[in-house]
Amino acid sequence: MKLKIVALISIMLPACAMEGHEESKKTNKETIMDQHSYAKPAESVVTHLKWDAVVDFENKKIDGVATLHLKNDDDAKEVILDTKALNIEKVLVGKKEVKFTLGEADKNLGSALTIPIKSSTDSVTIYYSTSEGAEALQWLTPMQTAGKKHPFLFTQSQAILARSWVPIQDSPGIRFTYEADVKVPSELLALMSAENPQEKNDKGEYHFVMDRPIPAYLLALSVGDLEFEPIGDRSGVYAEPSVIDAAAYEFEDLEEMISAAESLYGPYQWGRYDLLVLPPSFPFGGMENPKLTFATPTILAGDKSLTSLVAHELAHSWSGNLVTNATWNDFWLNEGFTVYFENRIMEKMYGRDFSEMEASLAYQGLVAEIDDMKNNGSGDDTKLKLDLSNRNPDDGVTSIAYDKGYLFLRSQEEKVGREKFDAFVKDYFTSNAFSVMTTEEFIDLLDKNLYQKNGLTMDTAKINEWIYNPGLPADAPKPTSDKFAKVDEQMSRFLTETEASDLDVEGWSSQEWLHFVRSIPANLTKDQMKALDDAFGFTKSGNSEVLTEWLVQSIRHNYEASFDELIHFLVNTGRRKFLVPLYQEMVNSECCASMATSIYATARPNYHFVSTNSLDELLNYNK
Ligand code: BES
Ligand code: ZN
Repeated sequence: MKLKIVALISIMLPACAMEGHEESKKTNKETIMDQHSYAKPAESVVTHLKWDAVVDFENKKIDGVATLHLKNDDDAKEVILDTKALNIEKVLVGKKEVKFTLGEADKNLGSALTIPIKSSTDSVTIYYSTSEGAEALQWLTPMQTAGKKHPFLFTQSQAILARSWVPIQDSPGIRFTYEADVKVPSELLALMSAENPQEKNDKGEYHFVMDRPIPAYLLALSVGDLEFEPIGDRSGVYAEPSVIDAAAYEFEDLEEMISAAESLYGPYQWGRYDLLVLPPSFPFGGMENPKLTFATPTILAGDKSLTSLVAHELAHSWSGNLVTNATWNDFWLNEGFTVYFENRIMEKMYGRDFSEMEASLAYQGLVAEIDDMKNNGSGDDTKLKLDLSNRNPDDGVTSIAYDKGYLFLRSQEEKVGREKFDAFVKDYFTSNAFSVMTTEEFIDLLDKNLYQKNGLTMDTAKINEWIYNPGLPADAPKPTSDKFAKVDEQMSRFLTETEASDLDVEGWSSQEWLHFVRSIPANLTKDQMKALDDAFGFTKSGNSEVLTEWLVQSIRHNYEASFDELIHFLVNTGRRKFLVPLYQEMVNSECCASMATSIYATARPNYHFVSTNSLDELLNYNK
């Protein structure tokens, strides 16, 4: 079935969603299309969600009642919601049960739930339960947690999976406030992307309020044997008891990081900023759920070396959560801005040398990925503005949005100077807070508020090249690092007969190690691999980034001594960013293709849908 239905997003904010907050300046009623939602917000738009839920671990389902407050057009006849694999039991309009229709299921979009209303209808209520097909949810057995005693549940809603656990208008341009009452087993704590409890209660009943309007992809829930440890006045960390100390240590500098972010682009708008360290099957490094970033435990390196990920998720509290990409075609506005902001936070905290190492690593990755994408026929996806119609928005999650987006913004900074650029960005977040942004509107703002305001002329052709052409412009910024040049020297010495133990590696950061491992040439012998491993202990690295890079090299060089670790890592970690290159390398190798298949068969039950959905095809897995 090919989909004709598209959602019209009203850029205008529902007035009541802003209650108690400064009214957004945006009053423009222009509508834009979101191909990834069935909603027709111009007719009826959700402004508030009241959610009652019981989390049933035994049957791995959530029983929910969702009351949606609406704002309707004068001629409104129906409200359309997004759902995916939900069992809809009954629907009330006000207090009266009505007949609803549930459309045909599309693989990506799920089914439209159409409810008849009048323009005077205030709210609709949906009684439902989730099913096994709830792609946002991952139900973990006790064995899949750190503590091994209690089950665990977490959600991952971005990009369009919120609809698999709440019937909602699941489009990034539609914002609503929410409140929730969630019942869970009494030995577990429930947390949401909202004001959160800091300890368990005997009843296992938790009340949540999110009083700032958010898009559905930022709805989040986690339930498990969790503890809280404060870090600063407005920050802290949640984790399983056996992980909490390590987490509190790793994120010690969180308060300083929030201040660094605020000093760049204005006050943090969401009250508290807490982190939740999830079990290792969490498919992402981090997810910027408002007030409560969800994070992978693979950033607990023990030496705070991977906390740029926290800077990234924190930065989303401005780019993404305050100013949100209007559709998934504008995804670079969320991620490119966030990588830019992340880089600036890291520079502020640890200096330019450090942030340039991170930028260089990203640049290397970007150049390689653009090459790959061009070679495998996805050249069009190397444009910043994407066309994801009739596709899974997940296809847009590449380093283009992140690192080409970053380089584009950096090119603008370099063009006008930091002072002007920072003033522009700060104003951009303030003026568009709690609102949506399209790529086109952004370019318009760039022209008016960055160039014209400063008496400058925007090079429109160049801007268009960045946004609408594949690959990188020839004059794109090229981050370089002196520190990496020194790392390269040491690799050359090793390749010209210097003993590994005689290399000058004193004081190297994990970024330098990462660069070193990445630059291992294809023709290194197994003996040389062993010499490096003996000298530097890569196979036992506690830094998940370095370890992954080393395991990729181990497969490439058939260095069997690290295969036990490879298997252990793949079975125990669900972070897609690590899984994809490792499986990919095995599938392409002579040594390890069949090993990939057998590891996958064992490990797959530990992975979230987001990861299996990316891997099944690569591994020829038949469900
Ligand atoms: N919002 C993303 C994760 C995401 C993107 C989930 C698209 C679903 C669809 C998050 O902020 C992110 O970018 N995570 C990265 C962090 C990294 C770039 C520091 C990750 O998980 O690796
Ligand atoms: Zn991000």
